[in-house]
This record gives sequence, C-alpha cells and structure tokens, in this order.
Amino acid sequence: MLKPTLFAFLLLMVSLIRADYVINADKTDADEDDAPVIANIINGQAATLSEYPFIGQLYYSSDNKNFKFSCTASLINPNWLVTAAHCISDQNGNTINPISYKVAVGRITLATGADLNNLIQVIQITTFGFKSSPANDLALLKLANPISNVTPIKVYPYIITNNLPLEVAGFGVTKSGSSVPSNILLKTSIGVSSSKNCSAYNDLWGNNSGPQFCTESYNGNDSCQGDSGGPIVAMVNSKRVIAGVTSFGMNKDSNSNVDCGENVIAYYTRVAYFLRSIAIVLGVSLESLYT
Ligand SMILES: *[C@@H]1O[C@H](CO)[C@@H](O)[C@H](O)[C@H]1NC(C)=O
Ligand SMILES: *[C@@H]1O[C@H](CO)[C@@H](O)[C@H](O)[C@H]1NC(C)=O
Ligand SMILES: *[C@@H]1O[C@H](CO)[C@@H](O)[C@H](O)[C@H]1NC(C)=O
Repeated sequence: MLKPTLFAFLLLMVSLIRADYVINADKTDADEDDAPVIANIINGQAATLSEYPFIGQLYYSSDNKNFKFSCTASLINPNWLVTAAHCISDQNGNTINPISYKVAVGRITLATGADLNNLIQVIQITTFGFKSSPANDLALLKLANPISNVTPIKVYPYIITNNLPLEVAGFGVTKSGSSVPSNILLKTSIGVSSSKNCSAYNDLWGNNSGPQFCTESYNGNDSCQGDSGGPIVAMVNSKRVIAGVTSFGMNKDSNSNVDCGENVIAYYTRVAYFLRSIAIVLGVSLESLYT
C-alpha cells in the first residue's frame, strides 16, 4: 500500500485549516453562538490566562472587514509571534502578504467584532524554506506595535526525548472534520513518541531531532485543525516553554480520513531547530530566547 508522503499531508493540512469563525464590525457578542464551547481540543480542558499569557490568535482578511480566525500562535518576543508556515502560505507554499493578517495576543477567548480595533496588524512574515521543504513549517510574524504587557514564552532548548510529557494548546476545532473552532483556549497532555514508532507510519520520517518531532495520540488526546501554529509546551522549573508548533496530523490507518483524535500521529515543528535563524531575524542573542 502506498504510504502518504509528508508533503502530501502538509498540502492536505493547508486545505484543512478552515475554521469557520469570522468577525466583523457588525457582529456583536450575541452572534457568538456560531462558535459553541465544547470542552475539548480533542479531549481537552480549558486553559487559563496565567498558564498561556503568550497565546495569540491569527485572523485573515481579504477585504479588511471580515476577519476569519485561521490559526493559533505564540508571542516569543514583544514584537514577534511564532506560528506554522502553512498558516500563512497559499496552496503553492508561497507566503501570503502580511497586510492580510491581524492578531490578538494574550486572551483565552476568541476575539469578537467589538475587538476589531484592538487587533494588531502583522507587518512582516519570515519563513525558513517552507516552500521547498514543508517540514520547515515555521513562521515568524512581526507586529506593528510591540506587546509590552505580556511575558513572551521561552524556547525549550533540549533534545526531544521519547515520552517527554508535553501539553498542546489552541483554539482549534474539537472534532475531526468540524469547521467550528473552540471559542475558549483548550489544552491537553501528549507524550512524544519514538522516531521508530513514527517511521512505521511514514516512510519519510527520520527522527525527532530534525525540524519536526512526532507524537501518537493515546486515549484520543490530540490537536486538530485551527490548533495549527499553536504551542506544544514542556515544563521547565514549573514554567511553560515552547518545544514545538502544531503542524499536521494523520490517521495511522491510511484508509481513514479522520486526522485528529484516536489512532493518530501528529507532527510538530521543533522550534529549537530554528533557534539560530530566529535569533538572527529578531536581532537578539541566542541565549535570550531560552533563558
Ligand atoms: C489526556 O489529557 C488529559 C488532560 O486533558 C490528561 O489528564 C490525561 O492524562 C491524558 N491522557 C494520556 C493518555 O496522555
Ligand atoms: C511505540 O509503540 C508501542 C506499541 O504501540 C507503544 O507501546 C510504545 O509506548 C510506543 N512508544 C512511544 C515512545 O510512544
Ligand atoms: C535526524 O534527522 C536529520 C534530518 O532531519 C538528520 O540530519 C540527522 O542526521 C538525524 N539524526 C539521527 C541521530 O539520526
């Protein structure tokens, strides 16, 4: 049987990050029941602002009027968010103009029409060879105004070991195939899988020390569409540090098109792999990103 390729799955994922939540100036809070709260990322729990002060929401607009929730992100510097490259790329892997994106940072509920004036414009998008190498699924978004009242998240700089306990968070849909994002931030626990286990489901898979690492869902704990770009964190000295960025998932059964939840393997872009490049783009020291 044909094993699907990493690239094919990334292309699929690009077409799947369609979480149907649009805000505009005419839409009041009352309209929010188009984003019902279901307490699951997949098997998730509500996350608090003190746990995720750095969390960001990415909104796309082609008309500067209607803003569609598209991905989750994390503040890693007062001027910059980190997210997945597939969140800001078109079907051909080209970066979309930053003018189309605004973000909300430091809130654990989705923005509404009333928040439009507080969304921050993205003024620059930097990627790291995503078009030619889709495993490099990472993007940096520069903000028009620095965020001074939020502490950015540090990067987990260590080797990603088998069974490393991690927590993934996002505003993504709570069921595979759904198009409605969660209107509250959700989190769930996931352990890193072994390179060997993941290779069994993906011929192209190398190891967890390259640009991406891999997890298997146990008890269905998983990330899903709309969580894309969001953080998967480790705890260091009881503080959350970002190990990866949600990239894509696939069912272990290649005949199934259920891409999140039970029996799924998921890939996360390993932020530390890009640390040197990130430091250069941000104009900061390498150490400042993880200490
Ligand atoms: C699934 O996630 C929940 C929290 O959302 C956690 O309590 C539980 O231990 C996780 N289960 C597994 C098998 O990792
Ligand atoms: C690899 O797969 C086996 C069999 O499903 C499982 O028992 C083991 O826990 C997995 N290893 C990791 C690191 O997830
Ligand atoms: C892990 O994979 C990367 C490519 O992604 C490769 O450069 C590296 O040599 C591999 N490391 C090990 C220990 O196999």
